[in-house]
Amino acid sequence: MKTSSIEKSVPEVRMGDAELRRTDRAHVWHPYSNIDRILEDDFPLIERAEGCYIYDSNGKSYLDGIASWWCVNFGHSHPELLRAIEEQSRSLQNVILAGMSHRNVISLSQKLSALSPIPDSHCYFTGDGASAVEAALRIALHYWENRGYTQRKKFFCLKDAYHGDTLGAISVGYVERFHHQLSGLLQDNYRAMSPHCAACPFGLEPDFCDTECFAGMEGLFAQHAAECAAVIVEPLCQGAGGIRLYPEDYLLKLRVLCDRYNVLLICDEIAVGFGRSGSMFASERAGVRPDLMTVGKGLTGGYLPMSAVLASDEIYQSFRPSRGGETFFHGHTYSGNPIVSALALRALDLYSEERVLERIQPLIPLLAEECRALQKEFLPRSYSSAKGMIGAIEICAAEGGAKRAAGLAEAAWQRGLYLRPLGSVLYLWPPLLISEVELRFCFQVLRDCLQNS
Ligand SMILES: Cc1ncc(COP(=O)(O)O)c(C=O)c1O
Repeated sequence: MKTSSIEKSVPEVRMGDAELRRTDRAHVWHPYSNIDRILEDDFPLIERAEGCYIYDSNGKSYLDGIASWWCVNFGHSHPELLRAIEEQSRSLQNVILAGMSHRNVISLSQKLSALSPIPDSHCYFTGDGASAVEAALRIALHYWENRGYTQRKKFFCLKDAYHGDTLGAISVGYVERFHHQLSGLLQDNYRAMSPHCAACPFGLEPDFCDTECFAGMEGLFAQHAAECAAVIVEPLCQGAGGIRLYPEDYLLKLRVLCDRYNVLLICDEIAVGFGRSGSMFASERAGVRPDLMTVGKGLTGGYLPMSAVLASDEIYQSFRPSRGGETFFHGHTYSGNPIVSALALRALDLYSEERVLERIQPLIPLLAEECRALQKEFLPRSYSSAKGMIGAIEICAAEGGAKRAAGLAEAAWQRGLYLRPLGSVLYLWPPLLISEVELRFCFQVLRDCLQNS
């Protein structure tokens, strides 16, 4: 029998580790990875994952301490999520969402809207986090155009924010270490001082401050509100910029400021949405209603990419041509894909069926206390912070900074815990369904690493 060229190209024998790494080095370009290290080191080859653990090709397990880039909230291989993908893939795989619809995306939008802190919101589906941010920024600009305010072309944002790696997202979320090559290309937006409690310029502690750092944002609004469509923030936690956790009060003040100056508030909940802050959404935790909200990552339990922008009804209605608006000419091939929608729909149900918010409540103080205890004992001049299911230690330069954090993560890996520090910040962002025993294991490993470092 003749074999097709596709069949011929499939290797008959599974590649061994050495060959896999050789082939990887020849053909794969890894994100956020030092190529020299890929070429020189025996980087891990991950074969499977279950619950909180990933398993390498030698069968060794590692607790996934960063929930695979902050998304596998239910852990890996949850049977209900796998079933949702499998079942939907049998009947409808993709269909355009422009001008037509399908059952899954309708139910998903209804559920997401009901869960969100934006009443009667409309869901605009995108692919990954950055594409949701791009759409949110464009919706904000376009909303003001629809209303006849053509001069509102800029944004307020925070220094050291991160909203993804596309040009619009970097224009509001510049992290020097990641994005400095693009500095000349980016839109000139207004960046306020970051609420960085670990290095508070006023020398205050978050429990005893009056968010004095908010004055920077107030000053910018007073000068430039008429030029700006919106302010965008990562609510309560500036994530990739260095896990900067900040008080609810900051967000509340921001909402008031937006109302006073008639500026839209965009809460980027891609990282912190779906329970990470201890509430379903961080903006909800702060008692704040955004005008636009972006979600991603945990929306699908982290198994397939899907993100969305939730927009208030007022914003949505402004796009109706019959009301003087203009159609939103923006979209993605896989917007609201039926398989991913089925998965996200199942994931939204699982947040309540698995009682995720209730289950994490006793773990939240444990995480905070353990971070503080380790920092006090081993890194007394550094800074620990925690909120919801996020715990971080920012290691000061005098105690080794980024080099120490990298060394500790390496030592943790040897002991079966996967961490990926952000510069000098060593942090835990585990699957939300982690058990107390597993969480204690993380701290045991860290203690051991610190004792031996
Ligand atoms: C707050 C925030 N916004 C946007 C993004 C970009 O998401 P993605 O990596 O899916 O493009 C991230 C990614 O970490 C994020 O933390």
